Amino acid sequence: MRNITITAHTKEFSLRCDTIAPDKSISHRCAMFSLLSNQPSHIKNFLLGEDTLSSLSIAEQLGAEVKRDGAEITITPPKLLSEPSDVLDCGNAGTGMRLYAGLLAGIKGSFILTGDKYLRSRPMSRVTNPLRDIGAVIDGREDGNLAPLAIRGARLKPFKYHSPIDSAQVKSSLILAGLQANRKSYYKENLLSRDHTERMLRGMGADIQTNNGGWIEIEPLSKPLNPLNITVPADPSSGFFFAVAAAITPNSQTVIQNVTLNPTRIEAYKVLQEMGAEIEFIEKENIYEPIGDISIKYSGKLNAITVEKNIAWLIDELPALSIAMAVAEGTSVVKNAEELRVKESDRISTVLEGLNSCSIETIEHDDGYEVIGGTVKSATVNSYGDHRIAMSFSIAGTICGMSVKDVDCIDTSFPNFFDILCEITTVK
Ligand code: S3P
Repeated sequence: MRNITITAHTKEFSLRCDTIAPDKSISHRCAMFSLLSNQPSHIKNFLLGEDTLSSLSIAEQLGAEVKRDGAEITITPPKLLSEPSDVLDCGNAGTGMRLYAGLLAGIKGSFILTGDKYLRSRPMSRVTNPLRDIGAVIDGREDGNLAPLAIRGARLKPFKYHSPIDSAQVKSSLILAGLQANRKSYYKENLLSRDHTERMLRGMGADIQTNNGGWIEIEPLSKPLNPLNITVPADPSSGFFFAVAAAITPNSQTVIQNVTLNPTRIEAYKVLQEMGAEIEFIEKENIYEPIGDISIKYSGKLNAITVEKNIAWLIDELPALSIAMAVAEGTSVVKNAEELRVKESDRISTVLEGLNSCSIETIEHDDGYEVIGGTVKSATVNSYGDHRIAMSFSIAGTICGMSVKDVDCIDTSFPNFFDILCEITTVK
């Protein structure tokens, strides 16, 4: 277990972030969706993080041939996905496990999906229940709620499912199952969760449309999809750590380059803008998604904020946003965010424990929390194996110094995080 100490930086910075980690959600989908074609997919700037490399290894175990040259990969799918001779290890990745569950539920064979101790304690019934309802044969501990999940591929029925949770993982799992049914399926969520699955599959030729009533209509595949040819943009959730660093450091600025500007992914930057940071979005191109730069400048003090809407669009950024809340003037409130409790850690507990160690007062609620802005003080904070907690408190360390315990988890999504952080301060 690696622990690090961050020294408070002594002066303002101007940082060009042109090496932010490639998008994790899109990289996972590249590994999986390439299996739905019958030709090689070419992917540039694939995220070489543990989570997405797990998804790539699983694609190989299912029969794909993967050629890798750094972050450039070619995935040649097998004619038919083969039954693997070993368990499929998703590592720490909820996205890997939930999406593969939907994909494999309709494939002939027997598959075991497992993961690390954190993933094995996260709820899977949100996908296993609706998948079972359409004919999937899946089991796991606690009646299919906890991994390892045992899946025996079965014939899947078309469905009409209104999800009680706004989750891209649930939606994507069901879409992948719907592609394998024999008639059109329908899926609806209350707030559009990140929509990379719909955009990428549509780009590959799948017939996935959203109708006026907000239902996503999924036509079964009648032939293999076209291969992917994609350069993965930078991950706005990873870039957001440095956005917060700039917003809390007097006279500092940064530009997060070549990032996806998908509206479902940049809401946290808009919240930071509302708190007072100077933020600009510059769209440069559109390939599956709008892509461009986001510039963030310190602009004096930040003000407290209440976030209660669009929580699914903020779910990965709330830990880093909480650091901005800690230095803002006034009490910030987060509501309707019970989903935070079932992420890589219980992020309501882990964020508040960290903030309290740094002498910031907080109030905990079942579905959120309050942060009373003040002066963040140097402390020792435990990440509890959650990459976003480790990175958030490392960023807090840039203003006051910090020791962060258990930072290996950062390799799941942002292996070069400390290389960039070292451009603004000292990390030991
Ligand atoms: C993801 C969806 C989100 C997010 C996760 C990645 C995805 O989860 O927290 O890091 O790639 O689909 P939910 O939408 O399931 O909450």
